[in-house]
Amino acid sequence: MSDDTVELEARLEEAESFDPPESFVEQANVTDEGIYEEFDENWPECWERAADLLDWDEEYDTVLDDGDAPFYEWFTGGSLNASANCLDRHLDERGDEVAIDWIGELGDTRTYTYEELHREVNEFAAALRDLGVEENDVVTMYMPMIPELPIAMLACARIGAPHSVVFAGFSADALATRMESAASEYLITCDGYYRRGDPLHHKEKADEGLSQVDHEVEEVVVADRLGDEYDHPMDDGERDFDDLVADHEGAAVEPVSRDAEDMLFLMYTSGTTGKPKGVKHTTGGYLSYVSWTSHAVLDIEPDDTYWCSADIGWITGHSYIVYGPLALGTTSVMYEGTPDYPEKDRLWDIVEEYEVDIFYTAPTAIRAFMKWGTEHPEKHDLTSLRLLGTVGEPINPRAWKWYYKHVGNEECPVVDTWWQTETGGMMVTTLPGINTMKPGSAGPPLPGIDARVVDTAGEEVDAGRAGYLTVDKPWPGMLRTVYKNDDRYVSEYWSEYSDPDADEWVYFPEDGAKIDEDGYITVLGRVDDVLNVSGHRLGTMEIESAIVGVNGVAEAAVVGGQHPVKGEAVYAYVITEEGQEGDAAFEEEIVAAVEEAIGPIARPEEVVFTPELPKTRSGKIMRRLLEDIANEEELGDTSTLRNPDVVEDIQAKVSDD
Ligand code: WTA
Repeated sequence: MSDDTVELEARLEEAESFDPPESFVEQANVTDEGIYEEFDENWPECWERAADLLDWDEEYDTVLDDGDAPFYEWFTGGSLNASANCLDRHLDERGDEVAIDWIGELGDTRTYTYEELHREVNEFAAALRDLGVEENDVVTMYMPMIPELPIAMLACARIGAPHSVVFAGFSADALATRMESAASEYLITCDGYYRRGDPLHHKEKADEGLSQVDHEVEEVVVADRLGDEYDHPMDDGERDFDDLVADHEGAAVEPVSRDAEDMLFLMYTSGTTGKPKGVKHTTGGYLSYVSWTSHAVLDIEPDDTYWCSADIGWITGHSYIVYGPLALGTTSVMYEGTPDYPEKDRLWDIVEEYEVDIFYTAPTAIRAFMKWGTEHPEKHDLTSLRLLGTVGEPINPRAWKWYYKHVGNEECPVVDTWWQTETGGMMVTTLPGINTMKPGSAGPPLPGIDARVVDTAGEEVDAGRAGYLTVDKPWPGMLRTVYKNDDRYVSEYWSEYSDPDADEWVYFPEDGAKIDEDGYITVLGRVDDVLNVSGHRLGTMEIESAIVGVNGVAEAAVVGGQHPVKGEAVYAYVITEEGQEGDAAFEEEIVAAVEEAIGPIARPEEVVFTPELPKTRSGKIMRRLLEDIANEEELGDTSTLRNPDVVEDIQAKVSDD
């Protein structure tokens, strides 16, 4: 390193805050600091600004209906269609511009202009109708990052059929659970996809899932990604995606006008119980909110090439690969593969070749980039970039600064965006054209978002003290309920800090946080039994129930241990039944059971066999202690334990491994 570089590194290390570069501010979508006050004073009408980004078939008459809180309704009386907003309205001016720039892992590409995407969405929507899909039927999609996925989503949106996308990395069991929970009679899937250059067969997994669904599945559509590489199984009556599209060539499907509050999609996510929750998002509120945050935070403009490297199977991909960017008429890049295939500079290669303006990724990816070294981004011309973003988990200041310097060349603001599946879109982040950035802290709540940090009594904590994050006012992108389970919606999100008798409702996201004297919020992580592994939400209960399902397991407790790249990793503590050896073969069996129930992302990093688990006198497992053990930290208070000796035994086992 030259002296200059050493000096620069030292300066970066020390800096606590960074102002947005002048060159960015000059062109930013939102630059008026007064926007915070304006939203405060004019709440909830301020949200018209988000709704105004869309084309409505029927104007709404009420911005917020809070008559039946916490079952809030937004933009009531209004109607619109999400696919028309993402496609039709751009045709006149931007029909020839690229909507989706898809890059396969092997280097093959597919480009869809708005015109082409519109055509294919219409054809597939017509096919779905012919197959019998009606308005409000839930259509499940079990697909990887191939263009047929957003096409199918937009086709569903066009005919008013909510979609439920299941991440392709999830297991057959996970697919079956979600299809059953949604009573979904339609599945769109594919033969397979590429991972690290190898074809990965997906159809068998889909078939296995289908065989476990209790109700009749009416139609199965299979997209062909692997071509001749894989002669995938097709059961009688199953349809080929391309054939359906070809059979409906030139079809035009009038977009169905949906009420603002009609469901746009369902997204299952992990919670504190073994059963994932179906988070319900609506057409008007959700689409307004993701469009607004894409405009204000991601600073997207139609001429941009924008790339979010998440998977569409998660909420980030729904909101910020598909709906937000396409509603604004920009070019959204979609990449099929892994970031280190064929080489560790794959992403930077794509940024250079496509001249990406805005890049949005996860801290776990940034930690991997750091590990791989600066030579990979340095090999490429990344000067097209103007804004960087992160989402999914806390980012430590070192990773933030690495991203800022080695990817953004200190010329791009970095937005650290806190939000959740349930919030629909970003909630806490700096506005890149306005706020100073403080690495490690997401920033102030967005205008109109009433996020606070409180203690257990609901009182706001002093600056610097840890507490719980709450959101005291509703917002348009919020979930409307847990599908078919209104009670769970109220008890999980609106109970902790609300006062129903006074009709005061406070949303509790189940994250810990602290706030500084400038009102910047640092999100510390989940306070419930949910892990965040590589930015993916996994419920410890889901993993535990997979483990206790294995013959020979008596009891299991799963906790998160810190991991340098994944953020958190799964640690499983297992008590075997009499006569069952806790050996390597049994460990393998347990790991396989978790993969089968959930998927490889939930794979335990370590399985620790133990004769007992630390329990309180009332018999509750002390997970906090198990976490301390996993992290090799000093143990918290053990005085309330019924069996304090067991802790040392377990500690000894973990350090042996
Ligand atoms: C965590 C992903 C710190 C948080 C969009 C939240 C974050 C959970 C951040 C939601 C961030 C997300 N800083 N923590 N910028 N973003 N989280 O539903 O714990 O997959 O509750 O949504 O991720 O995960 P989900």
